[in-house]
Amino acid sequence: MQSQAYNKERVEAILSKMSLEDKVAQMLQLSANANPSDIFEKFKSEGKLGSYLHVLGHETGSFLESAAQTELKVPPIFGIDAIHGHALLKPATVFPSQLAMACSWDDDMVEKVGEVTADEVAADGLNWVFSPVLCIGRDLRWGRIAETFGEDAELISRLGAAIIRGYQKNGNVAACAKHYLGYGEATGGRDSYDTEITERKAREIFLRPFKAAVDAGCMTFMTAYGSIDGESLTVSHRYLTEILKDEYGFDGFVVTDWENFRSTVQGQKLFESMDDACVAGVVAGNDMSMNSNEFYAALVNAAKEGRISIDVIDNAVRRILAVKDRLGLLDGEKKTPLSRDIIGCDAHQAFNYDVAVKSTVLLKNNGALPLAGAKKIAVLGPNATDVRAQYGDWTYFSHPNPKPEETGKECTYTVLKGIQAAYADSEIVYAKGCSVVGAEDAQTSDAWMNEALAVAADADASIIVIGDILDQNGETKDRANLVLSGRQNELVKRVKELGKTVIVVLVNGKPLELNEVEKYADAIVEGFNSGDMGGLAVANLIKGKENFSGKLPISFPYSSAALPCYYNQYDYWHFGQKYIDVPKGSPYPFGFGLSYSNFVYGDLSLDKTVLARGEKAELSVELKNDSAVDGEETVQLYFRDKICKILTPIRTLIDYKKVSVPAGESRTVTFTVDTEKLGYYNRDCEYCVDAGEFALYVSGDGKNFKEITLRVAE
Ligand code: NOJ
Repeated sequence: MQSQAYNKERVEAILSKMSLEDKVAQMLQLSANANPSDIFEKFKSEGKLGSYLHVLGHETGSFLESAAQTELKVPPIFGIDAIHGHALLKPATVFPSQLAMACSWDDDMVEKVGEVTADEVAADGLNWVFSPVLCIGRDLRWGRIAETFGEDAELISRLGAAIIRGYQKNGNVAACAKHYLGYGEATGGRDSYDTEITERKAREIFLRPFKAAVDAGCMTFMTAYGSIDGESLTVSHRYLTEILKDEYGFDGFVVTDWENFRSTVQGQKLFESMDDACVAGVVAGNDMSMNSNEFYAALVNAAKEGRISIDVIDNAVRRILAVKDRLGLLDGEKKTPLSRDIIGCDAHQAFNYDVAVKSTVLLKNNGALPLAGAKKIAVLGPNATDVRAQYGDWTYFSHPNPKPEETGKECTYTVLKGIQAAYADSEIVYAKGCSVVGAEDAQTSDAWMNEALAVAADADASIIVIGDILDQNGETKDRANLVLSGRQNELVKRVKELGKTVIVVLVNGKPLELNEVEKYADAIVEGFNSGDMGGLAVANLIKGKENFSGKLPISFPYSSAALPCYYNQYDYWHFGQKYIDVPKGSPYPFGFGLSYSNFVYGDLSLDKTVLARGEKAELSVELKNDSAVDGEETVQLYFRDKICKILTPIRTLIDYKKVSVPAGESRTVTFTVDTEKLGYYNRDCEYCVDAGEFALYVSGDGKNFKEITLRVAE
């Protein structure tokens, strides 16, 4: 599906009346927070700027009024980082982060998250979300792992397409697929650094979610900061124009990320002047510049001096106007705005609770969960009460400007508040135990630890809430060390040494080393950044009022030094991906997640075992819920080309299904296996499906696989 049609005549009529200056103004986006500047004030009063970012609804009035005074009456499009809910606005619904949401593997639910978010954004008077992040989260050191849907191209493609459909469902909000391309694969996990991927590999992995975004009708794309094999994405005609616009048929517009043009001058050292950078960036395929004050003069002058063709400028403006028209910004009719009452309303938060339940993963349970009959529960750990840590990045705490003095919302459930609500008949005692980054003096630190141990000693069970904090996640916050920081491991160990039940709840932005926690915890619950309702969801899951169904969208490391640890790696001669001093693979791999239900997989069967290219087969598996608890399972289908002309990963996800199975019952799960999905890109970057044998694998946990062979005939 491409974006919905727009009124070409209207757009061409507006374009034909625009001066060069009007056109270039459309191609500029400015931040109301990083300014004022002369250029900002000029545009604010003239009303001709193409876009503003980080303006909240109540601040839009003057910008709209000045646009309405102009002859052409083209309003600005307001972009906002609403990446897990419209979370820069305090009363709005804060959903779990993308990484947390991805644990649900639930396309429909993620689509609805998009729709609810867009409704709140639209009710706030804005019309463009800088979401979703379609980067592949394969280097855990990268600071923005929490913003991704995990490590796998298929899962990201499906969830990305789903949230885009949701955002754009009601036609008044545009989505933005970002960051195009390869940002998550920066060498060393260093934010915005160079990426060593070939075009073949880009097609096999990194482009796939972006192609899916185009197919889902995504109206805008954002250019990544980085470079691929030394070519800056900002000036990559190959990726921005030839592949994205010409080959994939993307018909929306491309916005740069923050000051990309300046980064090519000051960071990447590609140009001596902003003038040259802006021209090169637009010629490459960027249609709008995010927050470069010099852009306007640079482009106007370049056009006057014939250094850039007016056709290039017209094409960019045409794309921008087309998106504005699709959003109903050019039709002059006054639309009835959505009521502001829906922002953060009870119905949205009730849905948010369901999202949080489905986004939580049970990593370990030696029988300690569900936790019942505990008269006194110790809730320990720094993240039990830390709303900021629970939210993660891109909320009213951190953007557009950091607000250290900000407090949480009444309706937000931290884990402590959730446990208090879920265990209303038990005595709940809280002690912090330690901090996450440990800035306190030794005496205070010991006092916190001793207090926690005393509280734990007196309780029937301890729920220890640890992880990481906002300072350890986000742009420019890459981490070389993925160990739980401060005295968090010590807290878990020492509470366990008291001989009590220890349940660890993780509130964190990315997979961390859990070797110590694994040794001492009776149960481990991974919540990542779980939003407003995360604490209540975790508490009800611990209690057994809800059942776990989340599966990891990303693999956990044994060691920060044993990276990468993503599941779809290659075999090789000294194969096994094993270091001499670290176990092989991942303790909690992609696809892993336990449940109170016990799912038993039968053998696989195929209705045809030999297929011609282009044919499809039905693969079936019997799934039994061998437990007394109703549950939902995510059945995952992987493949491998057994002998291929190029290296193929040990397994590649091609499909997944969510299936509810009542206690004691069985369900037959059927996948349609399309031979078209069993291919690879050859060295000439052509997609090929070879004849030969393919292994198909079905799994519910990324560790145990049922296998069957399919043959594609010559
Ligand atoms: C920088 C980030 O890389 C991008 O994700 C974000 O949307 C923009 N700035 C705007 O805040």
